[in-house]
Amino acid sequence: MKLYDVAVVGASGMVGGELINLLESRRFPVNKFYPFNSGRKPAAVVFKGKTYSCRKPSFAALKKADIVFFVSTDEVSGKFAPRLAAAGVWCVDDSSRFRLNPAVPLVIPEVNRNELKVSKKLIAGPNCTLTGAAVALFGVHKKFKIKELRLATYQAVSGAGKGAMLQLEAELRARLKTGRVLEVEGGAFPHPIAFNLFPQVGGFDKNGHSVEENKVEAELKKIWNSPAIKISSTAVRVPILRGHSLSVWVKTERPWTLAALKNVLAKTKGLKFFANPYKYPVPLKQGNKTFEVYAGRLRKARTSANEFQLWIVSDNLYKGAALNSVQIAERIIQI
Ligand SMILES: NC(=O)c1ccc[n+]([C@@H]2O[C@H](COP(=O)([O-])OP(=O)(O)OC[C@H]3O[C@@H](n4cnc5c(N)ncnc54)[C@H](OP(=O)(O)O)[C@@H]3O)[C@@H](O)[C@H]2O)c1
Repeated sequence: MKLYDVAVVGASGMVGGELINLLESRRFPVNKFYPFNSGRKPAAVVFKGKTYSCRKPSFAALKKADIVFFVSTDEVSGKFAPRLAAAGVWCVDDSSRFRLNPAVPLVIPEVNRNELKVSKKLIAGPNCTLTGAAVALFGVHKKFKIKELRLATYQAVSGAGKGAMLQLEAELRARLKTGRVLEVEGGAFPHPIAFNLFPQVGGFDKNGHSVEENKVEAELKKIWNSPAIKISSTAVRVPILRGHSLSVWVKTERPWTLAALKNVLAKTKGLKFFANPYKYPVPLKQGNKTFEVYAGRLRKARTSANEFQLWIVSDNLYKGAALNSVQIAERIIQI
């Protein structure tokens, strides 16, 4: 079996740590392994029982790899990925830097793996929030053509990185110990997050939409190659560590019966569907180190014809990031 030299930029981060574990547990054929971090503080990672020190990335060091996973920042991806791809190195980028670039495939393998081509060495993975909807609703979209999609998202703090998780834990400890709200200056969020929630994920644009809401809309249209779909969302940060949940209202062009919808959802690739209307996935279980997207509580919406409601849960760190990147790499080594 051919082995590949693999680099992970952002190895000391939340997604980087999961990605390294997945490369090992899914037996990705790694020859040499090169982990990188910001270089601002010493960090070591363990891969296949061996401890590696992380280094600051340079073009020369990254070019030694066959595949580079970018799980750090938009700036770092922007600085290195295009040049590396031009030099023939596969770059799988989890940042948002290139997701909407028309020359860069934005890929969820269960949905659009045919976008992966030898000639396109730079590949983007999508935002962790829309991944659940993109996977869960793709079969329905193909069969009944979704024309309007409304979403309310309930997003875990790990979506904002390791620092955000540590902040929630510190706030919880402080509140339980002292009874007071811990205000974190320069923290990950605009408000305290312990025992709280807020309808803001990222900054706002001039029309009042948040960065996250705009990403969900634009990236979903690109992944489904369906620019005409109308999408509205409200992205909410909630005080849980891991697993994003979505409440969706889906209006289709073609009519359906609930039985037909159930049938499609049961067969959708990458989705585990709870057909029992009284059962549903929760982030603590189905959003925690899970490979699939989960959905339940399918029902007809009362607001209009051809509209249904569904509850979707997925692991933002696995399917929303690290796992999706590894799955992309598993495909590209086959083409
Ligand atoms: N968290 C999610 O659910 C999720 C989902 C989808 C996509 N993503 C994307 O994945 C990426 C990583 O997110 P995360 O949640 O893992 O963040 P994180 O926990 O904050 O980790 C960031 C990582 O990037 C490294 N880094 C920062 N600046 C760097 C630089 N100049 N050069 C090299 N490495 C640098 C950090 O190294 P130090 O430890 O040295 O600071 C750390 O390893 C982001 O682009 C994010 O948008 C995240």
